Amino acid sequence: MRAVTAPEPGGPEALTVVDLPDPVAGPGEVVLDVAATAVNRADTLQRQGFYPPPPGASDVLGLECSGTVSAVGEGVTGWSVGDEACALLAGGGYAEQVAVPAGQLMPLPGGVDLVTSGALPEVACTVWSNVFMVAGLQPGEQLLVHGGAGGIGTFAIQLASALGARVFTTAGSPEKLRVCAELGADVTIDYREEDFVEVLRTHGDGHGADVVLDNMGAKYLDRNVRALATEGRLVIIGMQGGVKGELDIARLLGKRGAVIATSLRSRPAADKAAICAAVVEHVWPLVADGQVRPVVHDVLPLERAADAHRLMEESGHVGKIVLTTR
Ligand SMILES: NC(=O)c1ccc[n+]([C@@H]2O[C@H](COP(=O)([O-])OP(=O)(O)OC[C@H]3O[C@@H](n4cnc5c(N)ncnc54)[C@H](OP(=O)(O)O)[C@@H]3O)[C@@H](O)[C@H]2O)c1
Repeated sequence: MRAVTAPEPGGPEALTVVDLPDPVAGPGEVVLDVAATAVNRADTLQRQGFYPPPPGASDVLGLECSGTVSAVGEGVTGWSVGDEACALLAGGGYAEQVAVPAGQLMPLPGGVDLVTSGALPEVACTVWSNVFMVAGLQPGEQLLVHGGAGGIGTFAIQLASALGARVFTTAGSPEKLRVCAELGADVTIDYREEDFVEVLRTHGDGHGADVVLDNMGAKYLDRNVRALATEGRLVIIGMQGGVKGELDIARLLGKRGAVIATSLRSRPAADKAAICAAVVEHVWPLVADGQVRPVVHDVLPLERAADAHRLMEESGHVGKIVLTTR
């Protein structure tokens, strides 16, 4: 099969199309003939050598895909050759085939085609697990989503809004803020011009963010804690603004707040299976009835993975960038 790896760390040009042996379905696994995968920030870090795959995971990039089941391993029930599915991966999605633990396979949500479904597993699983399972966002609470026009952001805005939260979001241009508002954000904040702490303080009853979904890490740590409501939960999922920050414990303690940092990729397979099952139960119905829609910026052939990485690193996109194998 053809696959994309980064044999030497580097810029987008480091991505190389290689021929690899076809994967086989081990016990509890299914092989998918990949129709589409999608680009994640983590892929750009892996390409640069900063985010190695977890032990046992493929060197091939790609944390999600959609495709057709072509082999079923021992002990797998509920899936047959020819079924269409999408999957959360620890790696291996930038390829014509991938072996996936059956628990990480999900049916396509109703009304979404096979290619577009390749852009859903990572955003759906990340947003559901962090905002709802970990931070426990409730209807009527206020969510602050940083990077609202990105893949994660566009999904988080829609899902939280559909489930009754009031959504604040940051982005870096008026065009992107307009898209965020169209997706359901109640308050949009241009992070180049405005201080999100001040916006949280002056909008609504000013109680702050009950939950923050943060992609920036160190750069926003202090301001995120300032923006938190009493008993607010800050969930850090990205490090786009660095890894070491200073935490004002007195401020956090006074708010009885929580700071949580999580990674989906390194979780054990059983956790991922539980997250996928929860996504199918709670998120797919909202996608099927159109309350939450996939936002796809562009669809490129797998051979153009380097162009897709350039686009993401220039933040030229809104939503997801999809790569197709066919
Ligand atoms: N921990 C996990 O399990 C997990 C899983 C998935 C993703 N993630 C992380 O989640 C983040 C988003 O991933 P993604 O795939 O959605 O990437 P993405 O599509 O590139 O989104 C990132 C967004 O951040 C925005 N941004 C850049 N600087 C910003 C700033 N100072 N303040 C606010 N926003 C800013 C970018 O656009 P503009 O600046 O133009 O607005 C962009 O829209 C990444 O950091 C990724 O590593 C973590």
